[in-house]
Amino acid sequence: MTILDGKKISNDIKDEITVEVQKMKDKGEKVPHLAAVLVGNDGASLTYVGSKVRSCERVGFKSTLVHLPDTTSEEELLLKIEELNNDDDIDGFIVQLPLPPQINSERVLLAVDPGKDVDGFHPENFGKMAMDMNTFIPATPSGILELLERYKVETEGKHTVVIGRSHIVGRPMSILMSRKGYPGNSTVTLTHSRTKDISKITAQADIIISALGIPEFLKAEMVKEGVVIIDVGITRVPDESHPKGYVIKGDVDFENVSKKASFITPVPGGVGPMTIAMLLKNTLLARRQQKKN
Ligand code: GUN
Repeated sequence: MTILDGKKISNDIKDEITVEVQKMKDKGEKVPHLAAVLVGNDGASLTYVGSKVRSCERVGFKSTLVHLPDTTSEEELLLKIEELNNDDDIDGFIVQLPLPPQINSERVLLAVDPGKDVDGFHPENFGKMAMDMNTFIPATPSGILELLERYKVETEGKHTVVIGRSHIVGRPMSILMSRKGYPGNSTVTLTHSRTKDISKITAQADIIISALGIPEFLKAEMVKEGVVIIDVGITRVPDESHPKGYVIKGDVDFENVSKKASFITPVPGGVGPMTIAMLLKNTLLARRQQKKN
């Protein structure tokens, strides 16, 4: 069994990006600038956005955190987005999800300039991805592809079972694993909360990508020997014995499933750090494209 070490690979990618940024600096070019918009004070979102901003500093990017109160109206957020769209110094930006209930996320995602949409959530970019056109690929799916590639995990002709149909992970992952090329060329089954007898499907899987958000949902009895496991779940489970008052749990019963797996991602230290590394990669790409325009 091999651990797919997202922490290590994400550090390698950040080192590679740091070298690229240094080259830009040496040539007297502007360095990439990422902005993150956070509305409200959701604990997990604060952690993720903080991590994204710190990672920018580490690779030499400029970063801006736009932190708005949870009472922000949709109109106010749309005005902020317009400002970021028109700010020539900002190469790419993200609006951290979820948004408070008074804001329609769909309208917000549509307002982001597709050329600065480093999350790859705008329908124009999502559509391009689905048509194998060059575009920003959402960071978590992109990080999973990168992990499979760097560990040379075979995907061609394999049965990939994706659990969860979110627009951020499950749906794009199902599209990417079925595309021509590597990683891809898989036969994909997309399962979700209405799927009947999910164990029967997971038991046939060569590769399982779980993005469900139910701690330790996937048990050893549900998988076959030699399976490849990608665990996207990151749920905070209350635990008073821990200083933070919670522990992070994945979707997979790691202790038992890992005994049958050929490759497996840990939680934490698997997919999570890869997401941030790929967001940085998309921002570097955005800078290069802005330069061309
Ligand atoms: N919330 C959970 N994952 C993500 C992500 O990748 N990007 C944004 N913007 N919000 C998220």
